[in-house]
Amino acid sequence: MTGVAAFVVPGEKTSMPQTSAQVQFPDRSAAPAGNGLPRPTRLDDVKGWFRPVDQLLFDWFLTHRRDREHAGDLLELGAYLGKSAIFLGSYLRPGEEFTVCDLWDSPAPDSSNSAEMDRSYATLTRRAFEANYLSFHDELPSLVQAPTSVITSRVRPASCRFVHIDASHLYEHVHGDIQAAERLLTPEGVVVFDDFRAEHCPGVAAAVWGAVATAGLTPLCITGTKLYGTWGDAEQLRGELLGWLGTRTDLWHGVEEVAGAPLIRIDGRKAQAPSHPRSRHRAEPAADGQADRPSPATAASPAPTSPAPTPPARRSGSPGLRRLVRDLLPPLLTRALVRTFRRLA
Ligand SMILES: C[S@@+](CC[C@H](N)C(=O)[O-])C[C@H]1O[C@@H](n2cnc3c(N)ncnc32)[C@H](O)[C@@H]1O
Repeated sequence: MTGVAAFVVPGEKTSMPQTSAQVQFPDRSAAPAGNGLPRPTRLDDVKGWFRPVDQLLFDWFLTHRRDREHAGDLLELGAYLGKSAIFLGSYLRPGEEFTVCDLWDSPAPDSSNSAEMDRSYATLTRRAFEANYLSFHDELPSLVQAPTSVITSRVRPASCRFVHIDASHLYEHVHGDIQAAERLLTPEGVVVFDDFRAEHCPGVAAAVWGAVATAGLTPLCITGTKLYGTWGDAEQLRGELLGWLGTRTDLWHGVEEVAGAPLIRIDGRKAQAPSHPRSRHRAEPAADGQADRPSPATAASPAPTSPAPTPPARRSGSPGLRRLVRDLLPPLLTRALVRTFRRLA
């Protein structure tokens, strides 16, 4: 592994376009600490491609069946800096295992994959992934730093309830990843494909729809960037999913017959993201409403479905005066005044 370099500016991976103004660190707290590693204060600080609509669907697929019959491990192929992996790691139940496979700073197995890596993830490192992940969780998942072609030798057959395929977007690799997923999923398991329809990666579309046509994969639903499918009982899953979608006012959905089966289309542009796992570097709101206190190092806690309540901020001074002070004065002066009010209260 090489040393830790500057962090990545995603290039060709365009499912979530970023302008150069958005590159890397939205605020200072997300920037690398003195050792060059990132210290994200929230999931949104971690660079990646994982939209609210897909966060909602991951949440639904990973939580709607909690009985033992549907227990199983989690697997992600392609993690980059950990955005979706950190989210997924919150859904691990006792006794289950989470495996993440990525090349990170290892060489790619062939020249096309190598060019893809150079173009899109040039300075990606495993240590940056680890620093991000450990900002939200106490332990790393099982890491496989290798091409995804090795995954069937590292994960038990029929052990996974959920597989997220988001590694190489080249046809041959995705085709292999689909075969691996079919082998590693439990009978009722769900597989998710990223970028299944994007112009810059036609190989994903070809491999995914090829598996629908010839390898028994049933697509359940699609969002703007991901396709969700199963080799299990699609009818039951689809019915349950439609029931849940019917309760969501922030998601549009419609059903269309595709390749002999109903496919649910979901427009998630107005999706309200579910609660995120919390970073141990997060700043707690101070009494004046400004985020200024880092939380204790042990406090990182996943909160997949029910966020921990934030303690109410302590108040001082009259509400009218507080509002006036907040609206009119620069933040530093505001804080000094609030501290004075508090002492006097
Ligand atoms: C699109 S990024 C993953 C994004 C991540 N899932 C997220 O949502 O933030 C693709 C990742 O796949 C990895 N990758 C590319 N080719 C690979 C291969 N052949 N085997 C394993 N990982 C690969 C890259 O290193 C990169 O981190």
